[in-house]
This record gives sequence, C-alpha cells and structure tokens, in this order.
Amino acid sequence: MGTLRDLQYALQEKIEELRQRDALIDELELELDQKDELIQKLQNELDKYRSVIRPATQQVQKHSELQEQQRTKRQAISAEPTAFDIQELSHVTLPFNPKSAQSKDLIKEAILDNDFMKNLELSQIQEIVDCMYPVEYSKDSCIIKEGDVGSLVYVMEDGKVEVTKEGLKLCTMGPGKVFGELAILYNCTRTATVKTLTNVKLWAIDRQCFQTIMMRTGLIKHAEYMEFLKSVPTFHGLPEEILSKLGDVLEETHYEDGDYIIRQGARGDTFFIISKGKVTVTREDAASQETVYLRSLGKGDWFGEKALQGNQISCLNTDLITLSTFINCWSYKHLIGGLEDVSSKGSEDAEAKAKYEAENAFFFNLHLSDFNIIDTLGVGGFGRVELVQLKSDEYKTFAMKILKKRHIVDTRQQEHIRSEKLIMQEAHSDFITVQTFKDSKYLYMLHEACLEESCGPIPETRGSFDDSTTRFYTACVVEAFAYLHSKGIIYRDLKPENLILDHRGDFGFAKKIGFGKKTWTFCGTPEYVAPEIILNKGHDISADYWSLGILMYELLTGSPPFSGPDPMKTYNIILRGIDMIEFPKKITKNAANLIKKLCRDTPSERLGNLKNGVKDIQKHKWFEGFNWEGLRKGTLTPPSSPVTSATDTSNFDSFPEDNEDPPPDDNSGWDGDF
Ligand code: CMP
Repeated sequence: MGTLRDLQYALQEKIEELRQRDALIDELELELDQKDELIQKLQNELDKYRSVIRPATQQVQKHSELQEQQRTKRQAISAEPTAFDIQELSHVTLPFNPKSAQSKDLIKEAILDNDFMKNLELSQIQEIVDCMYPVEYSKDSCIIKEGDVGSLVYVMEDGKVEVTKEGLKLCTMGPGKVFGELAILYNCTRTATVKTLTNVKLWAIDRQCFQTIMMRTGLIKHAEYMEFLKSVPTFHGLPEEILSKLGDVLEETHYEDGDYIIRQGARGDTFFIISKGKVTVTREDAASQETVYLRSLGKGDWFGEKALQGNQISCLNTDLITLSTFINCWSYKHLIGGLEDVSSKGSEDAEAKAKYEAENAFFFNLHLSDFNIIDTLGVGGFGRVELVQLKSDEYKTFAMKILKKRHIVDTRQQEHIRSEKLIMQEAHSDFITVQTFKDSKYLYMLHEACLEESCGPIPETRGSFDDSTTRFYTACVVEAFAYLHSKGIIYRDLKPENLILDHRGDFGFAKKIGFGKKTWTFCGTPEYVAPEIILNKGHDISADYWSLGILMYELLTGSPPFSGPDPMKTYNIILRGIDMIEFPKKITKNAANLIKKLCRDTPSERLGNLKNGVKDIQKHKWFEGFNWEGLRKGTLTPPSSPVTSATDTSNFDSFPEDNEDPPPDDNSGWDGDF
C-alpha cells in the first residue's frame, strides 16, 4: 500500500499529465482554427480560379451536348493586349502619382500577396505602385459588376468590400488586398461583383497602364542589353536578329564589393559585360606568388570573351564588381549563326513562284457562288468550317471557314482576323492555299480541304500513339514550323486537335512577328502554353518548340505533361518545369531526351531555337533513320487510313445546322482587306 505521500505524488503526476493534455488540446484547437482559415482561403482561391476559366470555356459549353458524346475540344485563349505599337511603348510616359511611403508599402505587399500578381518582377510592381491613383467610394456602392468589361485593377487602402458571384457571397476584403485583377490579366469579363460595406479608399490602375508596364519592362531591358552588345567589338558586324537573340540570353547578376568573379586558372565559360561598377583584373605571379595588378574595367567593358569563343581557360582574376551581365558560353555557341540559317530557308525558287502565281490567279477569279456546301467539318468559336465543292469541278473540294462578322466585332478580334488572312497569304506553300470572300454578315476563308483525320485529341479508348506514329506527326509539325518560322511567323496554337495530316493549318493564333522580335499576346491552349507566355515576358518562335515537346508527350502518353483541373492550376504546374514531371515508361529514353530539350524553361535554350534551327530536331537521336526526304516529297506512307474520295467526311464529327441569323456588321471598314 502506498503512503499518503505516494498518493499525493501520483495525484501530482496525473494533474501534470492533465495539464499537458489541456495544453495539447489548446494547441490542436489553434491548429484546427488555422486549418479552417486555410481551407476558407483555399476555397476562396479555388472559386477565384474557377471564375477565370469560365469565360474561356463558355464557347465550348455552347456545344456541350454535342461534345459530350464527342471529343472534348480544348479552347484556346487569346488576350490581345492593346492596340499600341510595341516600338512606341518605351516612349509612353506613365502617369506618376505621388503617395506616402506607407501607401507604397501597402500596394506592394498587396500585389505580393495576390496569387495572380505575385510573379511580377519587382521593377514592374514598383511601376504599378508609382502609377496607381487614389479613388474613393462611399458605403453601399458597386465598384465592380459581374459580367462587365473591366478596365481597372484596385488595391484597397482603407475600408471593407464584399465580393459576390451570382448573388452569393464569396468573401469580404479589407485593406491590403488586390481586386479586379482577373478581368485585366486574363481579358475576361468581371468574374464577380464587388460592393462597398463601408466608405473605402482605393488605389487604381487602368488596363492600358498596366499592360504597358507588363510589356515594356522586357522591352526596355532588352534594348539596354542590345546597347551593351553593340558596344562589344567582338559582336561588331553581327546582324540585329542575332544580337537580339543574345540579348534574350543575357542575365543580370550582382556581385558585392570584393567578390571574385573569375578565379585565375578556373575554366571560364561565361562572358561578362559590366553594366554598373568597377572590376580589377589581377594575376598571381607564379614565381613571386604576388598579386600583380593588370587593369581596371568599368561600365560597358567586357571580359571572358576569349573563353566564350572556345579558348577554354580564362585567367582573369578579378576582385571587384558591383553588377554584371553574362551570356552563358553554351548559349553563345549555339546561337551565333542561327538566324542566317533560318532566313535562307524561306527563299522560293522560280518554279515555285510560277506555281504560286498560277494558283493565285485561279483563286482570284472565284466567287462565293462558285461553291456548293457539302458538309460541316467543324464548329469553332467564331463560326463553322464547311466542306465546299467547286460547282465547275466536283473533284475540287475545299474547307471554307465561315466567320460571323458581328461576333468578330463584339469580341474585338478584327485585328486578329486580319492578321490571320495576311499570314495565310504569306504562308502560301504546297500545303496551304487561300482565298477570302465577304458579305454583310460573314467573312469566308477558303483553305485546302484535308479530309484525313485530325489526330487529336486522343480519345481515352485509343490511349496513345506508338513511337513511330508520334514520330510521323511530330515530323509533320517540324516541317510546318520550319516553313512558318522561316517567314517570321509563329504558330502558337499547337495541340493534337489542330493536327491534320497533310499539314493543313488553322492559323487562328498564328502571328507574324519578324525575326528577332517578340509578341506579348496571351494566347494558346493552357496545357500547351510556354512559361514565358504565362509570365508575360514576350515570346517568339521558341514558344512553338515548347509546344512541340508537349505535343510529343501527349501523343505518346494520351495526356499532356502539365495539366491541372483548370487553366490557372495548369499554368502553375507549367511554371514548375518539365524536370518536375515523371515520364512514364512508354516514353523511350530518346523521346524523353528530345521532349526535355524542347521544353527548356529558358526559350533560348530550346532545341529548334539554337544555331542550327530545326536541323537540331531533325538530327536528334529520336528521329534517327526517319525519312525526312520522303515526308517532304509525300512518298512516306502516313500512319492513318486514307480517305476514299474528295467528299468523304467520315473522319469528321457531325455537327448540327446553325440556324442563327447573325446581324450584319455595321461595316465600319475593318474588313477592307477581305
Ligand atoms: P475581376 O474578375 O476583374 O473583378 C471581380 C473581382 O473579384 C475579381 O477580379 C477578383 O479580384 C475578385 N474575385 C473573384 N472571385 C473571387 C473569390 N472567389 N474570392 C475573392 N475574390 C474574388
């Protein structure tokens, strides 16, 4: 039997145990509260993500019944930023609105706290901060109305607002929060309604200023880099396009006073240009072991160029610099010379020219009334594609894209459509022909009809393609890209759905950008969009090579490597990079190697965009033994069943008739080119 003392001791122990349990319960309760809060926050974010994707998929839903039984066609997104000339961007003066340091901090923190804007560069955030102007609303005002076309992004300085969607409350927001960003970033209508619960003080920035900032940060930096490169004698005589490519691969690095940039004897593979600060070059004397001062370098000076050209060892020993830019040796070697190659590919010989002119004359004399409609080949965002037949020669069939003019005007796509026509004309080759017509309600674009089956998207039941079928399709795209890129045109909407044997192209998102230039249009199909497009950094033909890697992966496995439940998630996964993706076994080592080389995060490192252009892809191990010549001459047997006649549409889905009679366009003249 225990003594009283023992019992007291045991009691004490129990009390202590209980106390510890209580503390644990408190801790867990706190954790639970935090988790609840997190769930609420994530739920909100999820709702927000959902709001963004809805507008992009609306058009698809219109045909939902049809598409339920058929394949799900992924909708491409396009957010043509603004009408202003990119060249002029750097000269646009943005309004400067002075504000207190406290307000500046609040705006900056709000942006960094916003999922959709936190990836902006700090310099961009700084510009937005400077540009924002004050706005005030009284209690019970409607700041944003769901469904409206938005033009302002806000940061809340003071007060409280309520966000609702379809009449249901989503959340309330207080100071330090951004709202109204979705419509501006993703060119959709307002995804929710925002009303004031108190008097509020806001900071606002308009769409135009916002997009100017987004675009020109890259442009100014690039122009600055170009200036540097032009000042380097090693680069004298290099064409502008190549300098521009070099400008793309420059990266800024910062060194503290006293840091070593290159150690004597180390293998040098980097070329530096000093953009700010001073560098001293020293050498250690082997005999005396003393450090001998050689020279000082300052802004605009460069070093490391010898290593760059292959003279392996750089014996510079520098010990002071504040900031420098460098080009990776690898990038340099692969880039120089690349564009001469590309530009020569476009030269057409006399025979091709004569053929082109004869075809042009033939198409020029055709009228709408010369065609019969046979069947519908497809239904898209703007209208439909019909299979038409020449009345005078029923063996001559074409695909006629019929676009509702009013729809084009309503969705502000006039510029887009005009550029599509110009590109079609420029891209005239063996596999693309074009003529356009118009009447008061429609625009008509005549393409070569391709009745072979489009190869995607791959239905669940079919699974994926084998290596050799994928190789064939990929090779077709490589050839088509080589052609388009040689004309300075990027395609931007590669996906299996758009792949039709015999290379028929849909140029809805193609854009002529010219060599060494970039575009800032946010477009493409989410799973195929390259990281630089998501990050609004400006993109060029290398975005097409990224999508080629995605296409290969999807053809080989049945689904694209980066795919989330909605576009925003997909974008986040894309930004993590291809190295985060586990490749299934069915992708062979060589195929995986090619995909990874195409899907490099850095555009200038992508295969296809290096010194040897597409040749690098054609010569890749995965293509070893592939009959490129046969593909070009059309003697290679395609891996799909051929159609039986010029009017056999059995490879296409069936579509209901379109009974809508669209209103005529007010004819403001935008369709003058048609
Ligand atoms: P925007 O669509 O431009 O206009 C309405 C704004 O409400 C939207 O941008 C977001 O800033 C905000 N919003 C939309 N959905 C949510 C949500 N689920 N939670 C919080 N804010 C939202």
